[in-house]
Amino acid sequence: MSHEQPPEPRPEHALVGRLSVERRAENPKLLEQLFGQRDDLLPLWIAEPYVELAAPVTDALTARAANGWYGYETRPRETRDRFMRWMERRHGWTIETEKMLFSPSIGTSIALLIEMLTEPGDGVIIQPPVFTDFKPLVVAADRRVDRAPLIFDGDRYTMDLERLEAVASEPTSKVMILCNPHNPVGRVWTRKELAEVAEICAKNDVFIVADEIHADLVLGDGSFIPIASVVEGDRWAALHGPIKTFGLAGVSDTLVVTRNREAVEHLRAADRRLHLNRNNVFSLAATAAAYAEGDAWLDELLSTIAGNVELLNDLPHGIRLVVPEGTYLAWIDFRALGLGAKELAGWLSAEAGLALSPGHWFGREGAGFARMTIAVDPATIKEVITRLTAASV
Ligand SMILES: Cc1ncc(COP(=O)(O)O)c(C=O)c1O
Repeated sequence: MSHEQPPEPRPEHALVGRLSVERRAENPKLLEQLFGQRDDLLPLWIAEPYVELAAPVTDALTARAANGWYGYETRPRETRDRFMRWMERRHGWTIETEKMLFSPSIGTSIALLIEMLTEPGDGVIIQPPVFTDFKPLVVAADRRVDRAPLIFDGDRYTMDLERLEAVASEPTSKVMILCNPHNPVGRVWTRKELAEVAEICAKNDVFIVADEIHADLVLGDGSFIPIASVVEGDRWAALHGPIKTFGLAGVSDTLVVTRNREAVEHLRAADRRLHLNRNNVFSLAATAAAYAEGDAWLDELLSTIAGNVELLNDLPHGIRLVVPEGTYLAWIDFRALGLGAKELAGWLSAEAGLALSPGHWFGREGAGFARMTIAVDPATIKEVITRLTAASV
């Protein structure tokens, strides 16, 4: 079966074009290891946009490459200013007294904050099913994973606030990693939900590390609510950057926004100790272009994702989409197939030819589900549906 259908006709002004599977840097050995051998596997398992990236960003990168000089380049003040203006413009978030620090990755920021805020053996709260890196980061730091799983009512996920309160009140539970919007279930937490989290954490002296890397990816009429606009005081840090929105994980830096002086000092000291902030000239060029000129492309990406969500509303064999409010990740409920966690992964690749992230990777609560990237052109989504329909159950 071929997944390379002719591209859908697109209007001339289209900004978000199709990206052929060949151009993605999928490692065939890794694909085979994870999903088994199948030549026509359609990989939609990594959280990044599988479309032509924003032209202002790729133009800036191309121009930077053509410049032919790649030495030390100081990060201009302008990078922070553009990020601030972007946040203000897109989310109504005015960053005033907070400090903005750069960090090579979200994972680095989480690791450094855990190091600062906890001792070995202390607990870090996560809300599975949740992004796969959180647990290994906690475990690698020799800290305890405190689980406050989300609740699924068959349509929608919510937070288990009682459970959250119970784990937070454990004296050695010191940090909560909040994922907003939530990868993989696609919730964009409301102000009320965030206020409840903030209250529980404040009462129990738990520091909130808010991973807001999917902030820009809110669908429909929803709004991203920054933790900064909800929490009183300074026991929080928010993690941002253009890596998910603009598909720049391979070149770009991320940011930590916080008004916590100890966190600022700790991150600065880590930078001095480990030289974390040698600027990558490409990341400077890409970040500046993304935040100054990426709006139109992002708007079109968001409407493409929203259209793809519509397409996925009608799936075969009792398979159901958990309708996302944000992110470009579709969390799909395959439990009607009655397969075990590993069997489902095997069925998806062997029967349907799809390389999706099996739900149990995100925690045991994810068993029976799978995550699929839907920042793709609609023809790819139609191909997915065709494959699922043709797969034998
Ligand atoms: C919620 C979330 N945080 C962090 C990351 C990865 O960030 P980094 O590669 O900068 O560690 C991802 C990537 O998918 C993500 O979904």
